[in-house]
Formats: sequence, C-alpha cells, structure tokens
Amino acid sequence: GTVAALIPAAGAGTRLGHGPKALYTLAGRTLLERSIGALRPHVDEVVVALPEGRGDEFQAAPDPQVRFIAGGETRQLSVRRLLHATTADYVLIHDAARPFLGARIIHDLLEAVAETGAATVARPVADTLVRGGAAGTGSLWGELVAREGLWAVQTPQAFRRELLLAAHDRAHAEGHAATDDAGLIARSGGQVRLVRGDARLFKITTPDDLPLAQALAAVWDA
Ligand code: C5P
Repeated sequence: GTVAALIPAAGAGTRLGHGPKALYTLAGRTLLERSIGALRPHVDEVVVALPEGRGDEFQAAPDPQVRFIAGGETRQLSVRRLLHATTADYVLIHDAARPFLGARIIHDLLEAVAETGAATVARPVADTLVRGGAAGTGSLWGELVAREGLWAVQTPQAFRRELLLAAHDRAHAEGHAATDDAGLIARSGGQVRLVRGDARLFKITTPDDLPLAQALAAVWDA
C-alpha cells in the first residue's frame, strides 16, 4: 500500500520560547527539515501542518513530494486535517519536535503496522516513577507508581489511515481530547503494537532540552 508521512508542526512552541517550534533551527537545519529529511526516502508523500500563514516560507524550495497545509487549534485537529489531506493507505505520524529519527525505526513501524493496523514507537520506562504530592508546588514525594510494564510513548506512530480516521471522527463526535493518536485507537478497542524506540527520539519541549539537542545534532550530522 501507499504511505504518507504526516507531520503536525502547527504548534506555537510556547514552552520553547523561540516562535513555532518546528521552525527552530538546530545546527543549520530546522526541526521540520530534519523530520522531513528522515521520513521522505521511506514514503510516497509528506504532508506538513504548519501554523496558519506560515506555509509561504516553504514554497521557495518546492518539492513535489512535500505539501503544506494549515494546522488546527490543537494537535488533534491538526492531525485530523492531515488525515483528510491524503488518500494513502497507511500514515506515519511524526512530531516535528523529535528530529532525530533513524531508518531502523521507520522500517520496524511499517512492518508492525502491516500486521495490526496500528503501531507506535515507545520505550520501557527506566526511571522510578512517583506522583507529586499535594504541597502546592507538587514537589513532595507522593504515591509511588510501579514502573514494571510501563512504556513511554514517542512518535512516529503508524496506522492504516481509515482506522485512525474512524477513531478521530469518534473522538471528535464525543468531544474527547487526546494528545496521542495511538491512544485513540486503543480507546476505540483496537490493538496497537509497541515498537522499541530510541532515547534519541526525545521530544524537544523546553529550553532545557536544547543543549542535549545541539550536542546530538553534532554527532548525528557528522
Ligand atoms: O506541544 P507539543 O510539543 O506537545 O506538540 C507536539 C506536536 O504537535 C508539535 O510538533 C506541534 O507543532 C504539533 N502541534 C500542531 N498543532 C497544534 C499544536 C501542536 O500541529 N495546534
């Protein structure tokens, strides 16, 4: 079947504080350029959701394999628009905020999605997990959460497009908000295969993440 890479990149990047996060330049290339470059060789087309009015900046270097659309108010709405913007059989959804994406992971995901119709990259949790206590700031040790069997979910996530579209339509109709697409499949009773991810797929979220991202970019680009 055909595969489209869908990149929600329409966030404001408020926590990072550098304008739209996907357009942040890391060692000479934006986070978005890095994600497009990683996915492009493995898919039939790439569709990117950008903040309203930012698409023009990219038409300077037209690429017939890459299209830009306007995103929505939330990530969920941006993904919904992306799903409606392609007719591919399978979609690979990837946050532009995770620029260090290797070919092995894309291969593993595409293999897994052919079996279950839904798969996500995830990592077994290594740290001890504890709920913050009710001390106003949440800085007190509260309840310990057993980490056994817990996985931290990343992107990319792969789906049969029609399966994810149905899950999105359902969540939309029910007013259910979600930050994650695989979660919507599980919520609809579907099976999601967990594919072992990579520490390098961490999400760049706050300024604290930038030194690590810069150090990694130097190694990644070498
Ligand atoms: O804010 P957060 O890092 O969780 O966003 C995850 C991804 O979703 C980012 O790549 C961001 O650009 C995207 N997003 C979007 N549309 C929104 C909000 C976030 O495409 N309205």
